[in-house]
Amino acid sequence: MSERKISIHEDLESLSRAAAETFLDLSVRAVRAKGSFSAVLSGGATPRTLYGLLAAPPFKEKIPWRDTDLFWGDERCVPPDHPESNYRMAEEAFLSRVPIPPENVHRMRGELDPAEGAKRYEDEIRGFFKGKGGEGGGALPVFDLVILGLGEDGHTLSLFPSTAAPDTSPGTSHGKSERLVVGSRVEKPGGHRLTMTLPLVNNASNVLFLVSGAGKAGVLKEVLEAPPRPELYPAEGVNPVKGGLIWLVDKAAAGFLTKIKET
Ligand code: 6PG
Repeated sequence: MSERKISIHEDLESLSRAAAETFLDLSVRAVRAKGSFSAVLSGGATPRTLYGLLAAPPFKEKIPWRDTDLFWGDERCVPPDHPESNYRMAEEAFLSRVPIPPENVHRMRGELDPAEGAKRYEDEIRGFFKGKGGEGGGALPVFDLVILGLGEDGHTLSLFPSTAAPDTSPGTSHGKSERLVVGSRVEKPGGHRLTMTLPLVNNASNVLFLVSGAGKAGVLKEVLEAPPRPELYPAEGVNPVKGGLIWLVDKAAAGFLTKIKET
């Protein structure tokens, strides 16, 4: 299991700036090392501030957008122009304002039947990494960065305590060894969701949680300080196999932490 780093910031703006600096640093290093940078975006409201920073100086000019490929960790099963769409939020917050080639933006097709949308996205991910000379056969792709949020109920991506763990047993994904993307039904706006699975996320080189606000103080304490109960708090299932795990939290969200010292 990887080292877990926790960084406590004054407020959302400050933690978002730290996230933007991490995004920039990882993108420059990845492109320098292998000519490409792959990042998975989170939905929800928290990352909006980060996305706005990426579309403004100094980040807009320094990020190697031409060699950056963006994916989503989850999506609501709605059309891309729907107010609930995670794609629409990112499009408005930064994608429409940075010089990233359209073919480098890999949207989850929430408008499709969930099973079809999941299959297409799984194929798109595998095709992308094969094209980059990455994993062959059933090996899990390795994203350079995955950005995640934390729901007040302990969910992350669209892995909710109420939804049965998606079937990731071997052979359940078109003959490949692990499911990368599944559909899940949730009692939330947009009903069905598409979500990346934990094996895929845990294979990333870097995972970054962004957690802000007093409303998250209770769940953050459970996830970071209480004995693990991933069936109740799916976010506890995020444990990168080899990659780094960083929690960027603000003081309000960290308000109940007693054991954790900033690392
Ligand atoms: C989504 C997200 C979800 C989000 C958490 C936190 O599609 O809603 O992917 O996992 O990260 O619900 O959301 P907030 O940032 O809005 O609190």
